[in-house]
Amino acid sequence: MANQEDIFKKVISHAKEYGYVFQSSEIYDGLSAVYDYGQNGAELKRNIREYWWKAMVQLNENIVGIDAAIFMHPTTWKASGHVDAFNDPLIDNKDSKKRYRADVLIEDYVAKIEAKIEKEVKKAAKRFGDSFDKEQFLSTNQRVVDYRAKADSILKRMGKSLENEDLADVKALIEELEIACPLSGSKNWTDVKQFNLMFGTKLGASADSAMDLYLRPETAQGIFVNFLNVQKTGRMKIPFGIAQTGKAFRNEIVARQFIFRMREFEQMEMQFFIKPGTQKEWYEAWKEKRMKWHLSLGMGEENYRFHDHEKLAHYADAAADIEFRFPFGFKELEGIHSRTDFDLGKHEEYSGKKLQYFDHEENKSYTPYVLETSIGLDRMFLAVFSNSLQEEELENGSTRTVLKIPAVLAPYKVAVLPLLKRDGLPEVAQKLVDELKWDFNVDYDEKDAVGRRYRRQDAAGTPFCVTVDHQTLEDDTVTIRHRDTMEQSRVKLSEVKDIISKEVDMRYWLQKI
Ligand code: GAP
Repeated sequence: MANQEDIFKKVISHAKEYGYVFQSSEIYDGLSAVYDYGQNGAELKRNIREYWWKAMVQLNENIVGIDAAIFMHPTTWKASGHVDAFNDPLIDNKDSKKRYRADVLIEDYVAKIEAKIEKEVKKAAKRFGDSFDKEQFLSTNQRVVDYRAKADSILKRMGKSLENEDLADVKALIEELEIACPLSGSKNWTDVKQFNLMFGTKLGASADSAMDLYLRPETAQGIFVNFLNVQKTGRMKIPFGIAQTGKAFRNEIVARQFIFRMREFEQMEMQFFIKPGTQKEWYEAWKEKRMKWHLSLGMGEENYRFHDHEKLAHYADAAADIEFRFPFGFKELEGIHSRTDFDLGKHEEYSGKKLQYFDHEENKSYTPYVLETSIGLDRMFLAVFSNSLQEEELENGSTRTVLKIPAVLAPYKVAVLPLLKRDGLPEVAQKLVDELKWDFNVDYDEKDAVGRRYRRQDAAGTPFCVTVDHQTLEDDTVTIRHRDTMEQSRVKLSEVKDIISKEVDMRYWLQKI
């Protein structure tokens, strides 16, 4: 079995080789933590965005979508708290000169304790077989209970110190846990300092009159400042949501793990405006709804888990992450935040404009509370891509590399392959492409032996291959091959479109949520 690092390297090289993700400005040696999406990547990204948009906007009568600008009035970021509080606690190792996020160093330490718990669980499950009761084991096995208590107390202390801005205690915790620099092994640390993550830029021609702006670090504020515009023009009644997808920018210091943590990335966010006091039930409801959306893609229930936040952001009264099992372990994929009336309240205060809702049932005005769901599109891309990449041992002893992207998200749904480049087969194949392309992205490939073409399409993630051969000329039938099972069947040319539609149509997938 390849180790996690090797698997991750394979993910990155495969993404490049098959036109999914390229390093930005690669011919100039690239730009750190900035990436470009290639011909297949752009399609996968578009499909994920659409899968989210359909589930969020089209299928919910009380959620509408907007597209706000990246540039916003600079006071927005004062009001939202980002100027004062959007900081990362950083620490430098004096020997390696490497800079780290102090909280990430501590969380990585805790992840190692959690890995030990998982190992104990696996061992016990093997030992006890069918009679194994995981919940009971977790609550009674002394070693596991001690590990859990240690992990919890570390996270609790870190959360408290960060909340109180007690950076000296964050450093003390790193020293007490004897955390070493992952690069040099040294424990020679500087003090912990705060660093703001927003990118600054200027609007205006001359230096004197230019206005300092920020590139938005989240899309959410574009929704908050438009709350009243949308509510009034859309005659929206609480509870209702506003969704949007778009670019966000953060000057991440610890930029690593490929497209997991980027400096320019895309978010898919939804703010759900609710009556104050109902936030707890909506928080639980959206946690469940969002998990269902993830599970609808069939990427394995065991690959997801919730992580409740100890350290709450400045705007939240409850928060949880949906974590996914990436090649480097369980990490945050999506955040669900109960944001109270913090944002609308602050924008009211800073703009001097009323951002309230008149509730006809209650016959009074109030500042709505907000429940937010926020997912990184690039991070979702990485989850789908890394989970889909598999090496399979075949019965004949050979291996195949296959990208089992859920068919609904695959960049190309079908490849049409004439068995030979002669005898009129390419013409029939091309005619089929011309018909199918109105409904799907279709690839046409006539180069190399058909077996090699199948392998190429498997590795690119195409769920169906349709082969046109001499029999097609006689009876209008073709061979359709399924990527995941490699099963082939003979079907009528006129049936091809329906067979593919049934498996790639969003309706079929989204009915599960
Ligand atoms: N509006 C709330 C908000 O922005 P967040 O937890 O900072 O919350 C939400 O970000 C999601 O955006 C994360 O769960 C993650 O998927 C994605 N995200 C955040 N920073 C990112 C980065 N540097 N690169 C890629 N995705 C990122």
